[in-house]
Amino acid sequence: MIIKVKNISKSYQKTGRGVLALDDISFEINEGDFVTITGQSGSGKTTLLLSLAGLIKITGGQIHFNNFRIDNANDKYLSDFRKKYVGFVMQSFALIPYLTALENIMLPLAISKISKKEKIKKANTLIELVGLEDRIYHFPRELSAGQQQRIAIARALINEPSLILADEPTGNLDPSLSTDIMNLLKKINNEKHVTILMVTHSPVAAEYGSKKIHLHDGKIISY
Ligand SMILES: Nc1ncnc2c1ncn2[C@@H]1O[C@H](COP(=O)(O)OP(=O)(O)O)[C@@H](O)[C@H]1O
Ligand SMILES: [Mg+2]
Repeated sequence: MIIKVKNISKSYQKTGRGVLALDDISFEINEGDFVTITGQSGSGKTTLLLSLAGLIKITGGQIHFNNFRIDNANDKYLSDFRKKYVGFVMQSFALIPYLTALENIMLPLAISKISKKEKIKKANTLIELVGLEDRIYHFPRELSAGQQQRIAIARALINEPSLILADEPTGNLDPSLSTDIMNLLKKINNEKHVTILMVTHSPVAAEYGSKKIHLHDGKIISY
């Protein structure tokens, strides 16, 4: 077991009435699972992902990560937990424009104690994994959207996370590039045994999941 979600709920309080974004959700994720989460816009997908990362506080239930309760953990613990175990991939690649592809990949190691040489070596291995070894010194604006997402995926892997959280990673890509990115994620899941939890509204992308969760109005309607 890597993640256990027990009866979680999340309501956002706005002036007027609250929004129940997650409504009594429970599931388990095992090491090496590739979980896809689908659902209409507003069904709670991003809220679920942010809750699992400890980036927002749930209002009910429990979240366990490798038998540690993270839903009531303090900020210091959560920040260490994210650094150590979690890699993020977003729809908008969030690369730093004035850093090269290689520097972007190394960025999460900025405060790490390992040597510069070791950092470069790690980043080079990952840039090869994502098939962009001939783009090391390119800046994000000199890369296509699909290539930028590959760099973002390599960056998410640099801390050797056990879990990748991806929110609509193919949302900005056309269908053939989406297929490339999905195959890359599948390869990472198979070869590096990284557990992946991916939110998508693409039924095609969702098919890559070994477990599929479908949300509607904050509830799981199929699992
Ligand atoms: N920060 C917030 N404050 C208030 N309501 C929010 C906030 N974030 C999301 N919501 C509401 O929670 C529901 C679920 O949103 P979200 O998790 O972003 O859905 P999805 O990612 O599936 O589109 C929506 O009704 C949305 O309007
Ligand atoms: Mg969303």
